[in-house]
Amino acid sequence: MTRKLFVTTALPYANAPFHLGHIMEYIQADIWVRHQRMSGNEVHFVGADDAHGAPIMIAAEKAGITPQEFVAQIAAGRKQYLDGFHIQFDNWHSTDGAENHALSQDIYRKLKAAGFITSKTIEQFYDPVKNMFLPDRYIKGECPKCGAKDQYGDSCEVCSAVYAPTEVVNPYSVLTGATPVMKSSEHFFFKLSDQQCVDFLRGWALQDNRLQSEVANKCKEWLEGEDGLGDWDISRDAPYFGIEIPDQPGKYFYVWLDAPVGYLASLKNYFGKTGRDFDAFMADPSTEQIHFIGKDITYFHTLFWPAMLKFSGYKTPDNVYAHGFVTVSGEKMSKSRGTGISPLRYLEIGMNPEWLRYYFAAKLNAKVEDLDLNPDDFVARVNSDLIGKYINIASRAAGFISKRFNGVISTAWATSDDAFLANLRNAAPEIQALFEAREYGKALRAAMEQADLVNAYVDANKPWELAKKPENDAKLQEVCSRLLEAFRILTIFLKPVLPQLTTQVEAQLNLAPLQWADVTTPMPDQHVIHPYTHLMQRVDPLIFDQLFDAPTAAPAAVADAASTATSTIEPLAEEIKIDDFAKVDLRIAKIVHCEHVDGSDKLLRLTLDVGEGKTRNVFSGIKSAYQPEQLIGKFTVMVANLAPRKMKFGMSEGMVLAASAADEKANPGLYILEAWPGAQPGMRVR
Ligand code: 2FM
Ligand code: ZN
Repeated sequence: MTRKLFVTTALPYANAPFHLGHIMEYIQADIWVRHQRMSGNEVHFVGADDAHGAPIMIAAEKAGITPQEFVAQIAAGRKQYLDGFHIQFDNWHSTDGAENHALSQDIYRKLKAAGFITSKTIEQFYDPVKNMFLPDRYIKGECPKCGAKDQYGDSCEVCSAVYAPTEVVNPYSVLTGATPVMKSSEHFFFKLSDQQCVDFLRGWALQDNRLQSEVANKCKEWLEGEDGLGDWDISRDAPYFGIEIPDQPGKYFYVWLDAPVGYLASLKNYFGKTGRDFDAFMADPSTEQIHFIGKDITYFHTLFWPAMLKFSGYKTPDNVYAHGFVTVSGEKMSKSRGTGISPLRYLEIGMNPEWLRYYFAAKLNAKVEDLDLNPDDFVARVNSDLIGKYINIASRAAGFISKRFNGVISTAWATSDDAFLANLRNAAPEIQALFEAREYGKALRAAMEQADLVNAYVDANKPWELAKKPENDAKLQEVCSRLLEAFRILTIFLKPVLPQLTTQVEAQLNLAPLQWADVTTPMPDQHVIHPYTHLMQRVDPLIFDQLFDAPTAAPAAVADAASTATSTIEPLAEEIKIDDFAKVDLRIAKIVHCEHVDGSDKLLRLTLDVGEGKTRNVFSGIKSAYQPEQLIGKFTVMVANLAPRKMKFGMSEGMVLAASAADEKANPGLYILEAWPGAQPGMRVR
């Protein structure tokens, strides 16, 4: 029986590009989805941007654009990541879409009608300058326990104390610096404490095979904890970027109410585009609804979300699968330590996305464990396993079939003693089951064990020896045909992980898209394959030097929108006309060489190619921020018509551009500009 699956990944906030953790989650889900499709199941795999909430509203305001424009800009950047890593969502939508407004309001109305919404007046800090209520994270002050300054309104980073914002000493708003005042307002609550809710959730969360055991245990703790479940505050006061609460002017749903509804909204939007019936699909008891998420958001997905759905009469999730975080060489990724990895940079420097898919798969299991990306381990798994054990089988066999036998596979052997291939085919059900159980590491290990056996067959039969004597031709064709059949089966095992490579193999072996069921259907006798072209390069370990972000020279800037709001930027220079700007001739320059300058603790000497057929010598005061080797080969922007300047160390023929804060003492970071790939030396920047 074919299954009907509705699969999602957590909806990322639309305030930043994807980081490696997002990509890992999407790859995990994408592998599972591809495995299901290869099994003949019907799968609808959707995502969306999580558009709402105070941080996005504030970030948009800072950028001088509307939240809608802000979110649209972020959304426009998603495709290059998803396509780049072969993550095949059927649809990508936004929680600010019309479907989500309608569905969220519908769910709320139904919850209200069923008696699950109450309201209560609460007191909260309010910024009298900005005229808005302040989320805890937007309040700072002195820690009530240890007195540390500039601590967040909910916890202290110095002594780890957790407290209420009202306990903070000398509180201030991080948005304006104003002293917040207490103000009351009516809030709406979802009655999670209702006994019906608690009973339902216990049954739902503890059902066999619904949640991972670690997650189910956590749910049990939450449900059976001393105070039980508290009611959940689902409203926020204007100004807020979100969905209006029906019949409550000035009140909006808290972002975490409408975010998961965005799963349904994206599916509905997709069905709308493809002419399918959303309501019928969701009403079908055989539909399975499955959410892949990170471990930090299980509370929302295993308590609030199923309860919301249940008591508004919607279908509840069948499974929620949580994963851990990505670490790099055993540590949390950190820009300032130089262990940050940007997924786009990975692609830009030419690293193969399927190396990463293979690596993540090799390290993933069904538990809620962190996944460590370690460069040595990465190189070993890709070069020794993926290339050394699997790709090499094709490169050893396909050439002979093409060159010596016009690409013809002979399967005379298919009727003779076939224990070797039978053994390989017999491994399929176990590997399939491991993909199903999200035990990808074990699945790949089992596949590589089979590859080892195939390589042992290569060594035992030595095609390169057979090829030396024409009288061995029949045997050579048989051995290589068997090897390609073995390679075809291994390709099926790896297909969920390596979709692009598999497409190449299918084309080369002249086969229709491979499915799990094809394991038992050998290539027919006299099947003709296409000439072999090399399938995948090995990883050069040195490429990791380019992958890691340069450590930031300054103490890491605090990344949240709030903390930068209080810092002052340098006053703007006097207004100019476009003609004034045109006088400055900015050009793309390639840094062809860079070195320290003897006797200078500030300067680096740059040799720049500006497309003039000769290079320029430029001294730049960026030594505190960069090592010469980090800059060589980079494309930057220079002022190309600046009068040459004689300096103590020689002539400087221009200036490169770098960003720095107004107060360089307090915030000494220096950031050289880098051009997007494709820009060529000499191009004018205008
Ligand atoms: O934690 C986050 O990034 C949230 N934006 C996840 C939302 S998942 C779902 F509820 F939409
Ligand atoms: Zn403290």
